[in-house]
Amino acid sequence: MLAWYDAHARILPWRAPPGEAAPDPYRVWLSEIMLQQTTVATVRPKFEMFTARWPDFAALAAADEAEVMTAWAGLGYYARARNLIACAKVVTASHGGRFPDTEAELRALPGIGDYTAAAIASIAFGERAVVVDANVERVVARLFAIDRPLPAARPAIRAAADPIVPDVRSGDFAQAMMDLGSGICTPRAPKCLACPLNRDCDGFASGAPEAYPVKAAKPAKPQRYGTIFWAERGGQVMLVRRPPQGLLGGMRALPTGPWTDVAPGLADPPMEADWRLLEGTASHVFTHFRLELALAVGAVDRHSNAGEWWPIADLESAGLPTVFAKAGAAIRGLGSGE
Ligand code: ADE
Repeated sequence: MLAWYDAHARILPWRAPPGEAAPDPYRVWLSEIMLQQTTVATVRPKFEMFTARWPDFAALAAADEAEVMTAWAGLGYYARARNLIACAKVVTASHGGRFPDTEAELRALPGIGDYTAAAIASIAFGERAVVVDANVERVVARLFAIDRPLPAARPAIRAAADPIVPDVRSGDFAQAMMDLGSGICTPRAPKCLACPLNRDCDGFASGAPEAYPVKAAKPAKPQRYGTIFWAERGGQVMLVRRPPQGLLGGMRALPTGPWTDVAPGLADPPMEADWRLLEGTASHVFTHFRLELALAVGAVDRHSNAGEWWPIADLESAGLPTVFAKAGAAIRGLGSGE
């Protein structure tokens, strides 16, 4: 792996060239926090901008929090950015500006968990540490054909990874495994013929390396049903604001009745009208359930202030969540007929 890394390592702005002097711990730390949620391609320009603006712990500790938040846009949860400043402050105030160099001390800092502590200890300080991110997990599961499904397999994957971590250049080894996972041992169609581990790989020998890591079958999502009520008046449709709590809270929406286990038909319309069900439905898959929406249309003549009237021709600009945008498009496609 180290020989392969020497020849094939990705050149990344937070890395030192393979086998050379240790990289700047500040840059290693910052890159690992940024990479927790986002791809290398997204992180790279953000990282360059961030380090130009705040080149070390002292600069970041003194930074204006709002400015850091703005710079963080696109990198995921803002709690991470807040922890970033908190960590820089602790390092500057309590460690005399010296970044701790052991996994245990690192883990005690804000925003640094098991994975990140191991990654920093090995990459920045050359400490032997077992670094298992999603890419490494895939490489190891294939190498040893670990057939227990994720997430239960995590301890076994970690235990299998431990003995192959070298005592020297453990950080280069970790990053070699990451690069192998990202470029060769890819989730679909891994390039096994180009892999330095293929002779030792049980997954390759099995003939179906892409079957690893095995993923636990996801429980089927419950199916729920509802009805969209498309109230139309002179080229406008009525939109409502969803209650602040709950799914899509506070978002603009098309009115619906209750979402239940059986199709509710025209039950509980948001206002009186001569409602008529269209042939056809709209469907959407949420994180925890599937929703099938019947589509009811009605002409509403009288003044109604149950919601806001929105020009149908300009519905795209209402910022409707996908489920309602889909339903609106389905209704317009079917022709509301009013
Ligand atoms: N993902 C997380 N840490 C990384 C690193 N040091 N190099 C490449 N990808 C990574």
